[in-house]
Amino acid sequence: MMMSHPQHLKEAMACFGTGVTVITATHAGQDFGMTCNSFNTVSLEPALVLWSIRQSSGNRTHFESAGGYTVNILSHAQQPLALHFTKGSQAERFAGLHLARLASGRPQIVGSTAWFDCALERIIPAGDHDIMLGRVLDFGFNPDASTEPLIYARRQFGKLISTPSPVTNAA
Ligand SMILES: Cc1cc2nc3c(=O)[nH]c(=O)nc-3n(C[C@H](O)[C@H](O)[C@H](O)COP(=O)(O)O)c2cc1C
Repeated sequence: MMMSHPQHLKEAMACFGTGVTVITATHAGQDFGMTCNSFNTVSLEPALVLWSIRQSSGNRTHFESAGGYTVNILSHAQQPLALHFTKGSQAERFAGLHLARLASGRPQIVGSTAWFDCALERIIPAGDHDIMLGRVLDFGFNPDASTEPLIYARRQFGKLISTPSPVTNAA
């Protein structure tokens, strides 16, 4: 079905299933973070990842000044954080959260399925968003079933239901 209305474009884009992350950073002693599903892996050697931020986001300049960011891949159990990190002050977003402090000084959300701590390599302007290309400095992941990833598609959260044949030749 071909459609041209911007709302239909959003609907079509929302069909792409993703994980959900909270991107965190620290600047001038202040932690800040926001929910993001535009995260993607880019390169293994060197290790590069990206995500995109709305240019009008209140956090846009903070993420540039911070010079790096941590990608926290949310587990299914962390679903409440996905909406929590879209609103309120930064102090409210982090209140009561169990954080680990990484060598970079950035906060990592404990209980995440995986995390990548990154230096901000380059900002690539792209329409109404900026692509934040990052070089992975450190990372970790949790193989436990209790930290299976949160999935997001068509504006709904869910969990992965595996099919019987595992993919053996994926990137
Ligand atoms: C599931 C989900 C994914 C999101 N992904 C992004 C994203 O990739 N980039 C972005 O700029 N905003 C994204 N948002 C919206 C931001 O989280 C939200 O606009 C931001 O936290 C608002 O804070 P601010 O006004 O301080 O920027 C997403 C929201 C949700 C619920």
